[in-house]
Amino acid sequence: MVRPPASPNLVMIGFMGAGKTMIGKLVAQALGREFLDTDELVTQAAELPITEIFRREGEDGFRRREQNAIDEAVASPARVIAVGGGAVLSSENRTVLKQAGYLVYLRATPETLAIRLADVTDRPLINAVDRVGRIRDLLVARGPVYETAGDVAVDTDTITPQQAAEQIVHWYRDQVDQGRL
Ligand code: S3P
Repeated sequence: MVRPPASPNLVMIGFMGAGKTMIGKLVAQALGREFLDTDELVTQAAELPITEIFRREGEDGFRRREQNAIDEAVASPARVIAVGGGAVLSSENRTVLKQAGYLVYLRATPETLAIRLADVTDRPLINAVDRVGRIRDLLVARGPVYETAGDVAVDTDTITPQQAAEQIVHWYRDQVDQGRL
């Protein structure tokens, strides 16, 4: 069994539009921790937006860059990290993240995600004529991975990012109080 370290990172996982970055920032603020977003590390290192990385290097190129960004993000403990929606599909990434901390699955229904992603233009994987169908198909494939990878899941459909962050902080403090961390 993979055991996280004494000062674990908290890693936000879940589909595009789940609120990983927004909620992750709020959690980091509440716990007084550094926040990192792997998509941002990728775009900074490449000096290119994600759509352009996909166009030039394909999804494989993006995934290689994402793996490097994950290694960089977990290099220090006690951070809050938001990873891209596809990051935990790789078993290598899952192992690295699990060794480095706790995974928080931000769950949302395809209907909620479709509303949140309606105006988004910088996610190449959902550039489809039938975007709702595409989200649904991807979520059918990915949902079980998110469910199993997450140490805890938070349903984000009917709560605000602030409330989601409060639930996560509460869960984290419970773990600490019960001597699990
Ligand atoms: C992806 C999610 C995106 C980004 C890339 C691929 C995915 O990140 O990494 O477009 O495969 O789900 P967000 O989940 O932060 O939108």
